[in-house]
Amino acid sequence: MTTPTLLFLLGPNLNMLGVREPEIYGSQTLDDIKTMCANEAAKKGFSIEFHQSNHEGVLVELIQNVVGKMHYQGVIINAAAYTHTSIAIHDALKMVSCPVIEVHHSDPSTREDFRHISYIEPLAAKVFKGNGAQGYVSAIESIAEMHSL
Ligand code: DQA
Repeated sequence: MTTPTLLFLLGPNLNMLGVREPEIYGSQTLDDIKTMCANEAAKKGFSIEFHQSNHEGVLVELIQNVVGKMHYQGVIINAAAYTHTSIAIHDALKMVSCPVIEVHHSDPSTREDFRHISYIEPLAAKVFKGNGAQGYVSAIESIAEMHSL
């Protein structure tokens, strides 16, 4: 049997974590976050696939790859700026049957108006925002709870 897997998808400019506006996004780098997620997921018996891309189509294709594959137990997505613009990511997520969790380091609803719309939220089982990288840990825990682990 294939190991239960969580797919992490992080969108544009999140490769710059640690350097990018640390007062908003924190000081942890993408590598730090990947290690933290792998460790937390392992505690719940999940392996992880962790991707960051600055390209919308790459994120769409990574989501398409989940469709019909039963070992994916959850998609944890911080689509970054594409959250507020991407109907393509919204449409791709509609095909996913495992739970989708939306994560943001900041709370976009308290920031500029253009961040107030999320095309991910209507498809998300849960949203964790405003709690920095801890949001990814909360997402893992909530998927584990959904699967009664
Ligand atoms: C973000 C919030 C988005 O509005 C922004 O474009 C990002 C990061 C967050 O994690 O707080 O790139 O998704």
